[in-house]
Amino acid sequence: MADTPIANTHQYEAWNGYEGRHWADHQARYDALNDPVNAPLLDAAALRATDTVLDIGCGNGSVTRLAARRAQHAVGIDLSAPMLERARVTAEAEGLPNVTHVQGDAQVHAFEPAAFDVALSRFGVMFFADPVAAFTNIAGALREGGRLAFVCPQSFDRQDQARVFAAVARHAPLPDLTAASAGGPASFADPARTRAVLSAAGFDGIEVTALDTEQVWGRDPSAFLFGWGPMRHWLRDVPEEAVGRAREAATEAFGAYVTGEGVRLKMSCWLVTATRA
Ligand SMILES: C[S@@+](CC[C@H](N)C(=O)[O-])C[C@H]1O[C@@H](n2cnc3c(N)ncnc32)[C@H](O)[C@@H]1O
Repeated sequence: MADTPIANTHQYEAWNGYEGRHWADHQARYDALNDPVNAPLLDAAALRATDTVLDIGCGNGSVTRLAARRAQHAVGIDLSAPMLERARVTAEAEGLPNVTHVQGDAQVHAFEPAAFDVALSRFGVMFFADPVAAFTNIAGALREGGRLAFVCPQSFDRQDQARVFAAVARHAPLPDLTAASAGGPASFADPARTRAVLSAAGFDGIEVTALDTEQVWGRDPSAFLFGWGPMRHWLRDVPEEAVGRAREAATEAFGAYVTGEGVRLKMSCWLVTATRA
């Protein structure tokens, strides 16, 4: 366990176990999926050269590094030791002296009060067991008037990925991902809930804007999908033969999205901005 308070213990275990190692081992592959939201996210964060920036759930740290190139200093916080290690190695390789990485749970981490001008996140804020507590803690880390900007997924049924998962589910049981469970990837799929959480946490000027991007799945996306932690977990007791059929079905479904540059799937997100009241 990290030498820091952890409230989200299940998430801590997942991101320090197979899931976090898979992300760390496939940094480029996950970045190819998620990089298309970088420009809109950074534009919305409106970073200034004098800003100190917090990247929540920074993972392998690509957004932290991009922020560091535009601001005075960037701090990435994450639960995952393997991903933070990748982030540190990459920041050093890129010669960025103004980046710090912290292992901690953003919901309860003892941030220095009002230390940041901006808090941002690329898909790192959906997993809090108590989002109001988490965003209250993040608000406390921002100076008065400080800015919040994050990107999160819209509901699963709006994603091209849902068609691939439907093909898999014809051969192996998958959970209903359209149900926006608290603490899951779609936990901020409903903008009304996002507004209620942020407002209760001390933010105002809350704006939620639709953002459609293309995820670059590259070549052999089925192999990557079937190595992804949640998929492995769901299929752990499914007979090998059925997994094989599910994988063939996924390959066929991905086939509808092949372009000259590999497989690309539309991803519908929300870009959320707010100001610390
Ligand atoms: C979907 S990944 C996104 C990683 C990174 N932001 C990116 O875009 O590549 C979610 C990240 O949030 C982190 N995370 C989840 N819950 C967290 C929490 N309570 N505190 C800090 N980090 C958390 C995970 O460890 C993981 O790295």
